[in-house]
Amino acid sequence: MRAHITAVAHYVPPDVFDNNWFASFLDTNDEWIRERTGIVERRFLREGGTSDMIVPAATQVLAQRGLTPADIECIIVCTVTPDQFFPSTAANVQRKLGAVNAWGFDLNAACSGFVYGLWVASKLVESGGAKNVLLCGADKMSSIINFSDRATCVLFGDGAGVVLVEPSPDESLGIQDAIIRMDGEGGKYLYMPAGGSLRPPSHDTVANKEHYVFQDGQTVFKAAVVGMAEVSAEIMEQNNLAPEDIAWLVPHQANLRIIDATARRMGLSKDKVMVNIDRYGNTTAATIPICLSELHQQNKLKPGDNVILASFGAGYTWGSLWLRWSLDHSA
Ligand code: UT7
Repeated sequence: MRAHITAVAHYVPPDVFDNNWFASFLDTNDEWIRERTGIVERRFLREGGTSDMIVPAATQVLAQRGLTPADIECIIVCTVTPDQFFPSTAANVQRKLGAVNAWGFDLNAACSGFVYGLWVASKLVESGGAKNVLLCGADKMSSIINFSDRATCVLFGDGAGVVLVEPSPDESLGIQDAIIRMDGEGGKYLYMPAGGSLRPPSHDTVANKEHYVFQDGQTVFKAAVVGMAEVSAEIMEQNNLAPEDIAWLVPHQANLRIIDATARRMGLSKDKVMVNIDRYGNTTAATIPICLSELHQQNKLKPGDNVILASFGAGYTWGSLWLRWSLDHSA
């Protein structure tokens, strides 16, 4: 049995912050941010936590599929910005939706969260372990970025994307294959230094701004360009997929230059690459489901389309997943 995506929706906060907003209090400018990253604007959530962005998207997903919250069997929330350490954000989503029959958990694979999560969800459904999984990729990055560090704060945004994963009646459609990797040696280049059990919060950790994203941008950039491109080329080779077989590359949106390098390595032209980093920045676990949701809304995905998801993020974690789209927007 295969699993497939049967509904998809997203939520982004209404408040937009363009590059010039950062230039009003930091030594930065619109040109630098656009040229180095491709980002023009991003959205920040003023009130509430990550679950508050998931719930409106999840509500749309249920409406699309004609299900009630009680029909959900499992909720997976991929995030690095949970509402709090515990209970899980999945539990908060369960409560807020009224998904009284659902169990669930949070999954932390940073920017690769959604790719990891979709692979896990597909295996749960394929094995009969769950009849459906509400898979959420969501991050409120504004809660963990240091607004005085120009090298990181301009990169991120807030948002949520949600899909429903269910058994596919047609084996040729749905999640087909994935290559998923991790290298903990990369941990020191992109992480939050304090706040966990190793270095619990203290006056010093707060004073030293250690509860924010730390990133050695150049080192992560080099690893991401190689990692995301290689794994995406590998999933094509492993499945005998030629560039002309692929309808869309849906890459993690961290930097337009990383996306371009991946597309080049795969032999894909730009018109087959989903890009919305200009409008949302890097929303971590939310980038890929937001991209899928926008492609679906714009009726750019057709049943049978070969879609490659690709990601790279903290851990390091990275991966590529091949699926054959099954949802018909016009149906
Ligand atoms: O999603 C998770 C994975 N993360 C990623 O994939 C991110 C990977 N890294 C990147 O995308 C890029 O490394 C960045 C966008 C973070 C930085 O771009 P870069 O081309 O690697 O720039 P850099 O760090 O080498 O910095 C170049 C210069 C430096 O100045 P000097 O030393 O040359 O004088 C920085 O201080 O740009 C300076 N700079 C800025 N200037 C204006 C750094 N941030 C800014 C800024 N505005 N916001």
